[in-house]
Amino acid sequence: MIRRTGVFLMGILLAGTAIAQGMPVPRPSAGLMPNPTMGKPLFEQNCASCHGANLDGSEQGPSLLHKVYEPSHHGDIAFQLAAKNGTRAHHWPFGDMPPVPAVTPDDVAHITAYVRMHQRRAGIR
Ligand code: HEC
Repeated sequence: MIRRTGVFLMGILLAGTAIAQGMPVPRPSAGLMPNPTMGKPLFEQNCASCHGANLDGSEQGPSLLHKVYEPSHHGDIAFQLAAKNGTRAHHWPFGDMPPVPAVTPDDVAHITAYVRMHQRRAGIR
């Protein structure tokens, strides 16, 4: 319960920051069922070059199986915002993540489901 509240508050905080900065928060379509099987090829095309084909990172980006990316630290909205706007380097020395304009909010929801599946398997939850 406390954990869920934390995730919720984190989402509000992130969304609040984005709104304060005038950034629209991308939202997947209502009723979409995020599907890891659909997320896999989208991840491989758009994210794996930096985050690694097995989500284990590369010379250009961090592993998404690191504890810092567990859902309570980086909620699903962090994925939407990262894909839409990119992100400034703040956790690692890889440099900034550029925006990934090729993916839609629905694509990112599928990618996030794929990442969460692997995180659970790796004990990151
Ligand atoms: C050109 C390389 C590159 C690509 C392509 C890329 N990323 Fe990233 N990403 C990074 C780097 C580098 C960071 C770490 C920045 C830091 O915190 O130092 C990062 C961080 C993130 C974060 C954490 C954001 C935060 O709030 O801290 C998420 C989530 C993420 N990436 C998801 C994705 C997804 C999903 C895709 C594909 C749609 C993707 N990335 C494609 C380089 C990339």
